[in-house]
Amino acid sequence: MANQEDQFKKIIAHAKEYGFVFQSSEIYDGLSAVYDYGQNGAELKRNIREYWWKAMVQMHENIVGIDSAIFMHPLIWKASGHVDAFNDPMIDNKDSKKRYRADVLVEDHIAKLEAKISKEVEKAAKRFGEAFDEQQFRETNPRVLENLKKIEEIKNRLYPAMDQNDMEGIKKLIEDLEIVDPISGSKNWTDVRQFNLMFSTQMGSTAEGASNIYLRPETAQGIFVNFLNVQKTGRMKIPFGIAQTGKAFRNEIVARQFIFRMREFEQMEMQFFVRPGTEMEWFRYWKEARMKWHTNTGIPSVKYRFHDHEKLAHYANAATDIEFDFPMGFKELEGIHSRTDFDLGAHEKLSGKKLRFFDSETNESYVPYVVETSIGLDRMFLAMLSNAYTEEKLEDGSERIVMKLPAFLAPTKIAIFPLTKKDGLPEKAREIMDELKMDFMCFYEEKDTIGKRYRRHDAIGTPYCITIDHQTLEDNTVTIRERDTMNQERVPVSSIASIVSENLKVTW
Ligand code: GAP
Repeated sequence: MANQEDQFKKIIAHAKEYGFVFQSSEIYDGLSAVYDYGQNGAELKRNIREYWWKAMVQMHENIVGIDSAIFMHPLIWKASGHVDAFNDPMIDNKDSKKRYRADVLVEDHIAKLEAKISKEVEKAAKRFGEAFDEQQFRETNPRVLENLKKIEEIKNRLYPAMDQNDMEGIKKLIEDLEIVDPISGSKNWTDVRQFNLMFSTQMGSTAEGASNIYLRPETAQGIFVNFLNVQKTGRMKIPFGIAQTGKAFRNEIVARQFIFRMREFEQMEMQFFVRPGTEMEWFRYWKEARMKWHTNTGIPSVKYRFHDHEKLAHYANAATDIEFDFPMGFKELEGIHSRTDFDLGAHEKLSGKKLRFFDSETNESYVPYVVETSIGLDRMFLAMLSNAYTEEKLEDGSERIVMKLPAFLAPTKIAIFPLTKKDGLPEKAREIMDELKMDFMCFYEEKDTIGKRYRRHDAIGTPYCITIDHQTLEDNTVTIRERDTMNQERVPVSSIASIVSENLKVTW
C-alpha cells in the first residue's frame, strides 16, 4: 500500500515537473480538485481525444459527432433526473471537520473485508502449492465465509437505504460498523444529508430577470436533446450513434486522487440509438469494442477488467465498468450502460415534443433505446501516465525515468538535436525539422549534451530523437534513437518520416 502511494506521489510530481499537469490557480494556493494541463499534458490529452474520435466517429459510418453547449435549459436537468436525484449522501466528522461520502465510507469498509479474504486465499495458496483449489477454499474456509456473510449483510442494508433515500439508515450502518474517521480516528459523526452535485449559476443581466441554470454534469444530455436534429439532418437510420467530447462539472464531495476525481473534467460520450429489444446485442457489441479500443494502445489486457453492475440504476437494464489498474488499484475508467428509453422518454414527456424514430420499412414509430459508452478523458490520461511511468537502471549503473507512452499518444513525436551549436549543424537541423513538422509534433533542442537531451525527452515520452552531426552535412544521414530500446541507427534523412509513421500506426 505504502509502495503504491509512493509510486502515485512520484507520478504526480513528475507530471508537474515535466509540464503535464499543474494545480489550478497555484499561485493563489490552488483550487481543490481543479487542474490545468501544461504544454505536454495538453498534447497528450489532445492525442487521446483524437484517438477516441477516430475510433468512434471516423471508423463508424453510422456514428456522427456533435459539439453541444455547456449551458442548457434548466428543464433538461429536471427531465434527466439530475435535479432530484443527482445526489450523494454526505457526512462530516465533527473532530477532523472533514467531509465524506457516507456510502464511500461503507464501501471502504467492505473493501477492507474483501482484502482480508484475499489475504486468506493468498496464504492458503502458498501453503498448499499446486494442489490448492481456490474455489473449494472460498466455499469452505470459515474465516472467508464469515467475512463474506458480513459483506452480504452490509450490502443488504446499504443499497436499499441508498435507493430509499434513507439517510438515517446509512448513519445507523456507519455507527453499527464502528467506522472511524481515517484522519482523526473518531466516531463523532454528523447526520447524513443529501448533497446535489450540480453547480448552478445565473443567466441574464438583471437579478429579477435572471434564471438559475446549471453547468452540465454530463455531456450525454446535449446528445439526447439533439437526437431528432441529428437524425433528421443527417438522415440517420437506426441503429446509429451520436458522439461528443467536452467539459462536465460536478461538485464532488470528496475530490481526491489527483485528476481521478475532479470538479471540472472532460468526458467522451457516445449514445447509440437502437431498436427496443436489440439493446442487449448492442450492449455486448460496445463492451467488446470499447475493451478493444483500450488494449489496442498496446497496454497489456491484464491492466483492464470489466466490473458488471449488480445494482442497476432504475432506468438501466445492463451496466458495466471498464476498470483500469491505477496506482491506487483497479478503479472505474469507463462506463457502458444500456439506458433503455429513459432519457428520450423523459424529454418527450417534459418538453411535449415527440422524440421518435419513424421506420419507413415497417411503418412504425418508436422511442429508441440507448446504449451509452462514457469515458473520462482525464481518467484515461491518468491511466496512460501511470502506466507509462518507468524507472530504469541502465547497464552503466545510471538511472533514467522514461515515459513509455504508446508512441501515437506521445506529446512530441520527434526531438531534433544538432550535435553542436556551430558548423552549420543548427541550420541543417532546422531544415530537417521544417520538412517534418507539418506531419509530426517536433521539438528542437541544442542546449546541453546529447545525453542530457535524451533524458529530458525520455521523461516526456518522445519516441524518437534525431541527432544531426558533421556526417549529416556530407551524406544527409542522421542518427535516430528509439526511446524504449535506446537503440541508435544511422539512417538517410529521407527515411525518417516513414520510420516514425510506421511506429505511430494503431492496428484495428
Ligand atoms: N453519461 C453517463 C455518465 O456521466 P458516469 O459514470 O457518471 O456516467 C462517466 O461518468 C465517466 O466520466 C466515468 O467513467 C469517469 O471516467 C468520468 N468521470 C465521472 N466523474 C468524474 C470526475 N469527477 N472526475 C473525472 N472523471 C470523472
